[in-house]
Amino acid sequence: MNANPQGNPSSAKRGLVEGDLLLSGDDFRRIAAMLHADAGIFLPESKATLVYSRLAKRLRMLGLASFRDYCELVADQTGLDERKNMLVALTTNVTSFFREAHHFSYLRDHALPPLLQVAKQGGRVRIWSAGCSKGHEPYSIGITILSLMPDAASHDIKILATDIDTTVLEQARRGLYEENVIASVPKPERTRSFDPVNEAGTRLFGVNESLRKLVSFRELNLVGQWPMRGSFQVIFCRNVVIYFDEPTQDKIWSRFAGMLEPAGLLCIGHSERVSGPALPLLANAGTTMYRLSRGAAA
Ligand SMILES: C[S@@+](CC[C@H](N)C(=O)[O-])C[C@H]1O[C@@H](n2cnc3c(N)ncnc32)[C@H](O)[C@@H]1O
Repeated sequence: MNANPQGNPSSAKRGLVEGDLLLSGDDFRRIAAMLHADAGIFLPESKATLVYSRLAKRLRMLGLASFRDYCELVADQTGLDERKNMLVALTTNVTSFFREAHHFSYLRDHALPPLLQVAKQGGRVRIWSAGCSKGHEPYSIGITILSLMPDAASHDIKILATDIDTTVLEQARRGLYEENVIASVPKPERTRSFDPVNEAGTRLFGVNESLRKLVSFRELNLVGQWPMRGSFQVIFCRNVVIYFDEPTQDKIWSRFAGMLEPAGLLCIGHSERVSGPALPLLANAGTTMYRLSRGAAA
């Protein structure tokens, strides 16, 4: 592989990041513009090192000598698959079971009891985990439901879990986790919701049937069309919108408000705040929690 096609040994140093592959300011801006157009994600130039380190592997795999060649590929119709790979490489998928635990205590003690009562009387309960990554978040919601209602799967209770990244969705559907990963699940729930599985000599823990039945995983781009018709009593969208630019964030909050039932609950990430036109519609309900004001439903 020719890592320096210009033949000038110092040319790579003129890039935004020191390395054997040239990432120019222009390449970075093209990549940032594509990521913004595809996923609403805003990449400031301070993320150049991250872009370099995550995409350099892709360039090497493809035998490309420069980020300019990579930009040409992903900007072209023939590079659509690689454009998806670029998105996957640049999104952050960090997650954990019962992350930001106060949301799950609030669900257990306040939000879920009346909803489960509705389900017991034959009504429907719909919860959306938007930007669900590898499944830890929707499964934590499901585990909380099962702790209150062990036969939840035999009622009309559904958690829709969506993400733009099909690689994490695949892992989420498999529902197999290492022991240290499920350590943050409270002990009685851990035993109730996971079964030990031997995968090629490795001891893993698999989501069991009653938990699996509560959660459906779907690919969905939050800045694209939302095909769901019904509304939700609870929406979790945590640590996703933080990566979007402000106008995109404002639009997403308004769209969530339009998807909530009256008094429906929105839980967001620890460094996120609802902003823009949705602000008067969503009343503060505690740390990073909002309730749709009655009468504000679409
Ligand atoms: C940091 S993870 C957060 C996971 C989980 N919500 C949590 O708080 O633990 C962010 C997730 O948002 C997803 N994401 C980023 N942009 C998205 C978009 N435009 N539409 C849907 N999901 C997106 C990423 O693929 C990633 O899995």
